[in-house]
Amino acid sequence: MKEVIKHYSKDNITVVWQPAKCSHSKICFHDLPQVFNPNNRPWVTLSECSEKEVIAQVKKCPSGALSIKQNEEVAMQEKNMQESDTSNTTKVKVAKGGPLLVEGNITITMPDGEEVAKEGMTALCRCGASANKPYCDGSHSKIEFDT
Ligand code: FES
Repeated sequence: MKEVIKHYSKDNITVVWQPAKCSHSKICFHDLPQVFNPNNRPWVTLSECSEKEVIAQVKKCPSGALSIKQNEEVAMQEKNMQESDTSNTTKVKVAKGGPLLVEGNITITMPDGEEVAKEGMTALCRCGASANKPYCDGSHSKIEFDT
């Protein structure tokens, strides 16, 4: 089956949504409902917020279902901001009945040796039911994982 990938563009950015990766954390529409609203069609409306707000919110997506493509100028500004941020702390939160939420820049080494760089928020499956391991895909709610 062909993977669904949706693109939502405004000026210098494009939000990319891969629904198969979504862990249904609801972080996007709780934190920035004027942009991410599952009751609207399309559910992503970029006209309501600044590019910076949208980029910051997309980086919080724990599953990687939301990602961002930026033009060169915006990407350079982001890179400069990251370089000036001297805090390298990585935080891990255990979500009750859900994934491990890792906040920060990490590198995941897959079983085949591939290294995947992740930034922002990453949700790692803790229940064992995800079809997209090591990432959480929201299956924890189907199996009523409550630990
Ligand atoms: S913790 Fe979410 S699918 Fe396992």
